Amino acid sequence: MSQPFLTAVDIGHTFHNLPVLANISLEIQPAGFVALVGPSGVGKSTLLRILAGLLRPSSGQVHMTHATHQQPIGLVFQRDNLMPWRTVAENVRLPLELSGVNGREAQHRVQEMIDLVGLTGFAQSYPRQLSGGMAQRVALARALVHKPSFLLLDEPFGALDALTRERMGLELLRIWRAMPVTVFMVTHSINEAVFLADEVMVMGGRPATQQPATITHHIPTCLPRPRDLAVQGLSAFHKCATAVRTAIEENGV
Ligand SMILES: Nc1ncnc2c1ncn2[C@@H]1O[C@H](COP(=O)(O)OP(=O)(O)OP(=O)(O)O)[C@@H](O)[C@H]1O
Ligand SMILES: [Mg+2]
Repeated sequence: MSQPFLTAVDIGHTFHNLPVLANISLEIQPAGFVALVGPSGVGKSTLLRILAGLLRPSSGQVHMTHATHQQPIGLVFQRDNLMPWRTVAENVRLPLELSGVNGREAQHRVQEMIDLVGLTGFAQSYPRQLSGGMAQRVALARALVHKPSFLLLDEPFGALDALTRERMGLELLRIWRAMPVTVFMVTHSINEAVFLADEVMVMGGRPATQQPATITHHIPTCLPRPRDLAVQGLSAFHKCATAVRTAIEENGV
């Protein structure tokens, strides 16, 4: 097996005397896709911020084998956080502006990303003219425009209706095939986690009552790729989704 893209060793984190995370160790393979599930308030976003290098853990280390935290990462949150006064193209271009990439190269990359996320023809639209799904596509394009090696998604489709969410999952797989990047995704949907990821990590604990959270289960999805919606009819899919649900129940919700 190749060297992991990222290794976290014994991560712990405390916010103002509140121990939120403890004993978290994990590996993510290069161009792998890991999903993290767990109850609300357990510490998923905190772990994501630590893996992204945005928050220094109180203890433990994060090692990146092929990349460093100096290299760009891509981030997408539940709400698209687009700038309403900028067009789609101007929103997507933002990370390039911040890193000093301008002119034709920037224009080319922005158009490439807009096409990749399926928004050809909408470059000059404003966020208010887009549906929720389209706005999340813009957020994805913005996260990918500077070719990050690590893409971190925090409930990126949480605000979308069920059908749009399903379509966005398929789109994400298509984009990930076209542009291999290592993905860490937080989601509340068991089916989404199993459908998209190579491995589902389950987090358990109750930080609010001084029981810090940890990763209690690592569940490989073992489903063939490329995947389409028919995968959700396979008995292997149901077995895996049941294993994740059982793991969450074992942790007590
Ligand atoms: N900046 C902060 N300062 C203090 N406490 C925090 C901070 N950020 C998070 N917490 C606390 O850490 C715990 C975990 O929060 P976190 O946002 O990581 O949970 P989560 O699993 O992402 O929840 P959700 O599914 O609702 O998004 C919560 O008890 C929260 O109150
Ligand atoms: Mg969160």
